[in-house]
Amino acid sequence: MSALYLYPAWLRLWHWLNALLFLTLLVTGLSMHYSLHWLVPFEVAVPVHNTAGMLLTGFWLAFVAGNLWGGNGKHYRIDLRTLPHDLMVQTRYYLHGIFVGAPHPFHVSAENKLNALQTLSYIGVMFGLMPILILSGWSFLFSTALPDTLFGVGTVWIVAMVHLTTSWMLALFLIVHIYIITTGETPTTNLKAMISGWHEGHEDASKP
Ligand code: HEM
Repeated sequence: MSALYLYPAWLRLWHWLNALLFLTLLVTGLSMHYSLHWLVPFEVAVPVHNTAGMLLTGFWLAFVAGNLWGGNGKHYRIDLRTLPHDLMVQTRYYLHGIFVGAPHPFHVSAENKLNALQTLSYIGVMFGLMPILILSGWSFLFSTALPDTLFGVGTVWIVAMVHLTTSWMLALFLIVHIYIITTGETPTTNLKAMISGWHEGHEDASKP
């Protein structure tokens, strides 16, 4: 058994700093939203949340740049002809096969490290929810520059609802994400890969 090098250093650095920022935003955001001042005092939560949000924006841009020019973008390509079938097979595995010891329907390779559900969910999160979260965050920060109302509804209320809904969706993603990463060849194969870069347990060696 050997390993494939699938997670370059920049991606791992991005991933763990992004996760740290996301957790910081979640804790400070919850603390502000529910007035949990025992969790993080309000006067601390506000500047920490704003700073983490600004840093997250930079990290998001770095992720886009890294995928455009860092070689990782190939894992986000979708083949529309095989997608419906791959999605069905993968969903069936997560809902049934995994509980009855069925073999993994997807095999990680140097060309394709993410299964169809991972690919779609990461695209949805990184290119859908994250930009909405970031834009609504910046709109919140500069809300005094926004018009008072939009289609007769208070603009700040709209921004708040968009920001809040997106945050909840991303928090939900995180729970599912942490479960799904434990469903690799062993419960820690994926975690080890995101730490060391090497995905273990391959017959076709690229590591001596
Ligand atoms: C403590 C929290 C987290 C843990 C333990 C974790 C763990 C992991 C692991 C082990 C992988 C590699 C397996 C795979 O490729 O699917 C991974 C990939 C990934 N994670 Fe996380 N993650 C966390 C938080 C986040 C957050 C907050 C986001 C985004 C908002 C995120 C986005 C991603 C993306 C986009 C990938 C695929 C990267 C690539 O290879 O192109 N993760 N995560």
